[in-house]
Amino acid sequence: PADHLDMHVNGRLATVPASAGMTLLQALRNDCALNGPKYGCGLGECGACTVLIDGVAARACVIPVAAAHGRAITTLEGLGSETAPGPTQQAFIECEAAQCGYCLNGMVMTVEALIRRKPDPSEQEIRRELHHNLCRCGTHVEILQAARRAAV
Ligand code: FES
Repeated sequence: PADHLDMHVNGRLATVPASAGMTLLQALRNDCALNGPKYGCGLGECGACTVLIDGVAARACVIPVAAAHGRAITTLEGLGSETAPGPTQQAFIECEAAQCGYCLNGMVMTVEALIRRKPDPSEQEIRRELHHNLCRCGTHVEILQAARRAAV
């Protein structure tokens, strides 16, 4: 098997080692120097590591990097920058939706994926989408507010 693989990360070609057992999250953080996606549970349960694969939200901590070969990966960094945040990021900033902030990558990326799929989601759809994204600080009210604002 090839010892490297190519993926498109935030619109750029990235070649990373295809080590057995390596996850997409490790490749993004360690080889692509992208620290938007966070390591939370490592079990696919908390959502902190969420990225978009071909536009669909996915949990990078449980996806083998080999599965990303040839795919388009979008991370938090791909939505905007510190000086020019994207619309979803801007909504989270305006609603002050962060307390410790560790879960926010997952919240932002999940909302982004939802809005790309459905630009005008209902309250129920937003809640259903975020149901499996965990926040231990309890800023759910602000997070939901931000999701609604992003969807406007
Ligand atoms: Fe991937 Fe928790 S770190 S779901």
